[in-house]
Amino acid sequence: MPPWHLLSPDQARAELRRAFHACRQRTLALATDLSEAERCRQAHPAFSPIGWHLGHIAFTEALWILEQLQGQAIVTPAQRRLFAADGLPKAERQHLPDLAALLAFLATVRDRTLAYLDQAPVLDQLRLWLWLLQHESQHLETATLVLTLHRWPQPPAGLPTVPLPPEAAVGRWFTFAGGQGQMGCDRPDALDNERPVHTVTVAPFALAATPVTVGEYRDFMAAGGYDTADWWTAAGWQWRQAAGITQPRYWPGENRGDGEGDRHPVCGVSWYEADAYARFRGLRLPTEPEWEWAAQRTPLTLGIWEWTATWFEGYPGFQPFPYRGYSQAYFDGQHRVLRGASAATGLPCQRPSFRNWYHPHVRELFAGIRCARSLSP
Ligand code: AVJ
Ligand code: FE
Repeated sequence: MPPWHLLSPDQARAELRRAFHACRQRTLALATDLSEAERCRQAHPAFSPIGWHLGHIAFTEALWILEQLQGQAIVTPAQRRLFAADGLPKAERQHLPDLAALLAFLATVRDRTLAYLDQAPVLDQLRLWLWLLQHESQHLETATLVLTLHRWPQPPAGLPTVPLPPEAAVGRWFTFAGGQGQMGCDRPDALDNERPVHTVTVAPFALAATPVTVGEYRDFMAAGGYDTADWWTAAGWQWRQAAGITQPRYWPGENRGDGEGDRHPVCGVSWYEADAYARFRGLRLPTEPEWEWAAQRTPLTLGIWEWTATWFEGYPGFQPFPYRGYSQAYFDGQHRVLRGASAATGLPCQRPSFRNWYHPHVRELFAGIRCARSLSP
């Protein structure tokens, strides 16, 4: 992402156009390739149909740019009812416009957005524009995982994981002496939950140089990981038994077809599985401050969201933006933070301070594991 705070209004407009265009190209590529069922049906009860995501992307842009900033009312009551996040329950989002109508909604809103951008006081509004860009980017990742669920075990190209690069040292550790440091981000692209920047104290720790691979996770399965209560938290073991699962959601089987099956990061685990795997190794998940500490100092090989030990909470002095329901509604002690980025995460959401969050039982995400351990001072 460009250094937004250093740009002139014309430069900011040009960069925004470029970034919105790049994101929209990916959205349209996903949309044009959909079957009727993929557009309208839920692949899983926790996720809306892909067609809903498309409409919600356009609706959100119209709401925040055209209505809130420009004062132009273009969203119909029917669109609001169907595509607002606080409208219909997820299971009732299946009666959707056809693809042509969804694409027309996206295009109409975008045309007006770009016309407004030409004359908008963009530096004063930068946080909202960059929030909107990241909003589309995040819904695109969710839509991509829904498509992966529909098509599994034949996922879209390059998903859900790519093998670790040849130089990635599986089994190696990065060590950190810790101390006092800064956490969070206050650049214009930082979302409300990354603010304010604040001081944290971190004890000496080590972080695995790579996310847990399929090969490593196979050891856990072979050792009876899914049948050994000792490695699970009480809530995790209860979930494991109720869910009846015996392998990750996107487990590749014996062969991913690229000859590097065992060097893919393991993908499609809940927080409970991630936590149990770490305990099986005599290790633990990193805390959020540890993860960010490491990411600020060492380039981490990403490619998967990584579960942390930390519950999602606001940083001290948190202020909601642009609405309470974006982050604050999830400060409920029931969501765990994930850090990193998956193969489906857009560039607008990739930075060391970016925070993702889900319930600990959700395993349909492009989420894996990176282990940590404490070091003696
Ligand atoms: C941060 C990915 C959990 O999709 O629920 C999109 C992002 N918030 N629209 C979600 C979000 C409102 C959010 N996650
Ligand atoms: Fe949304």
